[in-house]
Amino acid sequence: MVALTVNGKKHEVDVPPDMPLLWVLRDVLGMTGTKFGCGMALCGACTVHLNGNAIRSCITPLSAVGAQPITTIEAIGNTRNGAKVQKAWLDLEVVQCGYCQSGQIMSATALLDSNPHPNDGDIDAAMAGNICRCGTYVRIREAIKRAAG
Ligand code: FES
Ligand code: FES
Repeated sequence: MVALTVNGKKHEVDVPPDMPLLWVLRDVLGMTGTKFGCGMALCGACTVHLNGNAIRSCITPLSAVGAQPITTIEAIGNTRNGAKVQKAWLDLEVVQCGYCQSGQIMSATALLDSNPHPNDGDIDAAMAGNICRCGTYVRIREAIKRAAG
């Protein structure tokens, strides 16, 4: 059994230690808000926070998590910046199909946690790894600025 803490709740899961965190979240714990896109750290759909940092859960083995706390899209709204980001997302109607958006919100919140007033370059650098096939990039940038404001 492997122990992990997700959104403040402790779990013990009976999985191989090399199983990617994304599989554990979705298939073992049933938390499907975090999405599978590429499985190769190329799209950002699987982004969660590990100890407050945005990481790609598709390439993060459970053995690398240890006792570090995990936050997912299901609970990011309980944090100050997560709530501001989600409100800005709704106010500006950022979402199109929605598939990439949980990862976008996790990356945007991690950005504001580390840089409360990012400029355009900061935003583009922080969000570069999150791909949106619907092309919502302009609204994402505006929503991050609104959340920062
Ligand atoms: S599914 Fe992890 S980066 Fe694409
Ligand atoms: S909103 Fe459709 S992929 Fe981003």
